[in-house]
Amino acid sequence: MTTQWTKSDWRAKPRVQMPEYTDAAALDAAEAKLRQYPPLVFAGEARRLRADLAEVAAGKRFLLQGGDCAESFSEFSADGIRDTFKVMLQMAMVLTYGAKVPVVKVGRMAGQFAKPRSAPTETVNGVELPSYRGDIINELDFTAEARIPDPQRMLQAYTQAAATLNLLRAFSTGGFADIHRVHSWTLGFTEKDDAEKYRDMANRIQDSLDFMTAAGLTAETNHELQTVDFYTSHEALLLEYEEALCRLDSTSGKWLAGSGHMVWIGDRTRQPDGAHVEFCKGVLNPIGLKCGPSMETEDLKRLMASLNPGNEAGRLTLIARFGAGKVADHLPRLIETVRAEGANVVWVCDPMHGNTIKSATGYKTRPFNRVLEEVQQFFACHREAGTVPGGVHFEMTGRDVTECTGGVRAVTDEDLSSRYHTACDPRLNASQSLELAFLVAEELSAVREARRSATA
Ligand code: PEP
Ligand code: CO
Repeated sequence: MTTQWTKSDWRAKPRVQMPEYTDAAALDAAEAKLRQYPPLVFAGEARRLRADLAEVAAGKRFLLQGGDCAESFSEFSADGIRDTFKVMLQMAMVLTYGAKVPVVKVGRMAGQFAKPRSAPTETVNGVELPSYRGDIINELDFTAEARIPDPQRMLQAYTQAAATLNLLRAFSTGGFADIHRVHSWTLGFTEKDDAEKYRDMANRIQDSLDFMTAAGLTAETNHELQTVDFYTSHEALLLEYEEALCRLDSTSGKWLAGSGHMVWIGDRTRQPDGAHVEFCKGVLNPIGLKCGPSMETEDLKRLMASLNPGNEAGRLTLIARFGAGKVADHLPRLIETVRAEGANVVWVCDPMHGNTIKSATGYKTRPFNRVLEEVQQFFACHREAGTVPGGVHFEMTGRDVTECTGGVRAVTDEDLSSRYHTACDPRLNASQSLELAFLVAEELSAVREARRSATA
């Protein structure tokens, strides 16, 4: 490369899905403030996540990435963060215990505020307004005023992200995530029927812990059992925000996206010559790349070359989101491309974004059985190819919502209106998330079994 990358190079590239701010002075002022603020994450943490993801690529760990489709200013609360964190811990426990594999935990949290939209405008009862683009950009209310992009919202997003991350760090290391509390992560409303399996597993874990204590291994001597590593991630969509939080890492001399540990490029903003790829290629963080059915083989080659020129393990995670029934049409050709290029990537399954439909009652929803099917198809393709299924990426919440249909508690089309709270896409609720974790654990155990018998 002849010229050095800079954090504002993206400005000269074609951009999509970003707002046109009308008040340039207000935008400048907000960016200037953000440039003064501390980064939300430290470069050493981003490097540690990269190292963890390198182990995921090698099949030694498994990535669990999940959280809201869109974080919201009005729904922001300590209880909300706590409950999503609890569900992530439960899912991770199911995977660790069920599949005997360490889990890398990454929240779609503390920065997941900007949303790509399928149309620039939205029409309700004959009134057409600009689309809602996430709380960091404009407001969900259906008024002309609310839909004007306001750069001040970036500052509120930063504040909310900082407070969220602060609480997540406290939960991760302050005793809440101690494995001895495995029973306490169960949420009240899941306690009746669907958490039965989890409770059984937690009992068995408790039993093993009691044994270890009796054998002399106490929690005090085992820090690993008392704390967890929990990372944050979001789509790097609003590049003014991302650029303003970019910091030079003095240790490596490289640039850090200081907005979160991992950032990803969405399926709609991954143009190889576009602004989003330009920004992401220069930061040291682990990068995710969404791959939908329109991902061309040639584009994937170019993207891998520009996002991971050194072919380093852990740098690039490909997040497959094709939709149930379409995985076999696309994943094998992309796996083959990766293999032909000798590229080092982590393969992750997002079974949410290819399975969104409009329900009979008018709500945007996702049938839970389609979500499960896509996960199974993802595992099947990797089994066929002999490659590593590295992780899963979900939209979920600890709240007892009715946004996706199906699951053990059988949410119906008619139920959707009862507790439909998402600002954007429908999320799995706590019991659907747990059910999914049990399925993933089964798939993953089969992978490990196959590997064991192949090396035996
Ligand atoms: C998302 O993850 O919320 C999203 C919009 O995904 P995709 O870019 O895959 O559509
Ligand atoms: Co979404």
